[in-house]
Amino acid sequence: MKVFSILFIVVGCVGSLLAQADLFPYGVASGDPLADRVIIWTKLEPMKRAAQASGTWEIAKDEAMTQVVQQGTFITTTESDFTVKVDVTGLEASTYYYYQFKSSGKMSIVGRTKTTPAGEADHLRFAVVSCSNYQAGYFNNYGNIGRRTDLDAVIHLGDYIYEYPDGGYGDSTLLASGSRSIEPKTELLSLADYRQRYATYRRDADLRYAHQMHPFITVWDDHETANDSYKDGAQNHQEGEGDWMTRKQIARQVYNEWLPIRGEAMPLYRKISYGNLADLIMLDTRLEGREKQILDVTNPKLLSADRTILGLKQKKWLKNNLKGSVARWKVLGNQVMFAEYNVGWAASSSSDFTPEQLESVFLDIWDGYPAERAEIIAFIEEEGIDDVIILTGDVHCSFAYDIAQKPSAISTAPEEVTYDPATGEGSVAVEFVTPGITSANFDENIGLVQATLLQYQMNKPLPTGVNPNPHMKYIDLIRHGYLILDLTPEKAQADWYFSKNIL
Ligand SMILES: [Fe+2]
Repeated sequence: MKVFSILFIVVGCVGSLLAQADLFPYGVASGDPLADRVIIWTKLEPMKRAAQASGTWEIAKDEAMTQVVQQGTFITTTESDFTVKVDVTGLEASTYYYYQFKSSGKMSIVGRTKTTPAGEADHLRFAVVSCSNYQAGYFNNYGNIGRRTDLDAVIHLGDYIYEYPDGGYGDSTLLASGSRSIEPKTELLSLADYRQRYATYRRDADLRYAHQMHPFITVWDDHETANDSYKDGAQNHQEGEGDWMTRKQIARQVYNEWLPIRGEAMPLYRKISYGNLADLIMLDTRLEGREKQILDVTNPKLLSADRTILGLKQKKWLKNNLKGSVARWKVLGNQVMFAEYNVGWAASSSSDFTPEQLESVFLDIWDGYPAERAEIIAFIEEEGIDDVIILTGDVHCSFAYDIAQKPSAISTAPEEVTYDPATGEGSVAVEFVTPGITSANFDENIGLVQATLLQYQMNKPLPTGVNPNPHMKYIDLIRHGYLILDLTPEKAQADWYFSKNIL
């Protein structure tokens, strides 16, 4: 009986909140904090489909909204699909704030946010997330992040949405039950499509709660446009689906409408400083400058010296920010795996793949742009830039790496290996890869037994005595969750948090 009465109270509370917040069904969000400002966000669902709506916002020092420090008005129109974004300035550094929107006599829920430190900072903690496929599971991991009270911000590395049609990509149990059906039912192509998909995602209570409780710092990966996208196209953009540049522009516009990002994502790459402790250097390895993937390791063009995933302009910007950073930790917010990932050895005589074919499956990552990766590693080394951390999403699995120029004898002559796994010598940076919130990882793709075997062998000596990935310090191919990056002047630590079940 107790269970029922608690349930009744919970349902009652949620019911009254919904009734109150009808005009704001997508909640609130904040993002891109700086020492003196932060973006606050909401979206109206006007009862009458007028061309424009207006309202007010307030930001306060307390959750009850009694110590208001700033307020203002907003106007929003159909042009931005009634999304509202305010860059609130004049705030104090390293401070929690609470904010709320009002319109037509209705109030939004109250959001919480936090500005960055201005100078000295002795501790930072971020949740790092990626890959939330709505149809692959429930967003328990977003809910868990929302309930945390120890975060400065959430760093989202992309695949915030997926572009596939209803049932096109997900967990079969959920798809059969229909409990996570999405709108629109078709693959996203038009402005209305992309808008509707974000709306579906943001009706998820767990995702909404994570946004309500923490500022987000976001970059897109491929699925905010289409699978394996690059500057001039995408694997999942076919003839008959219209002009790619138009689709890319639509996806960029809607991303900017829904995510609490400053500057309309033009360009997406940007730096956010956390005092003297960390510079977050957020990258765009998708749409800014990436050349088309070459999905064949035997193709000599893969090794071209001028092949790029960043584009010249962004690469120059990255180098300047790495070299010019005076922060203790230089943290790159990066989409696809940077470290060398050697997996061809796992092709067996019984499988459908040759070693070269299996290796070629994983060329949408930095492995597909080896000259540019080598250039970045050499730059870090030659300029003596210490304490570089690369954060990565995309692959739906968990890894930690030392980053070295030539880490393994499986891909280079033994005498040319530049890395000692026993001492870490030769490592110029580390990489922490966050698992997906829900998106399928190896057990869901190749089965639990195969995934477990692969996971076991991935960074251990093969019968030949060669370790294919000696620079891989941690691996989990099976569980879903997120990682926490904890920074002090003395150390950087990643901890992975997994949820038992996403179904
Ligand atoms: Fe993904």
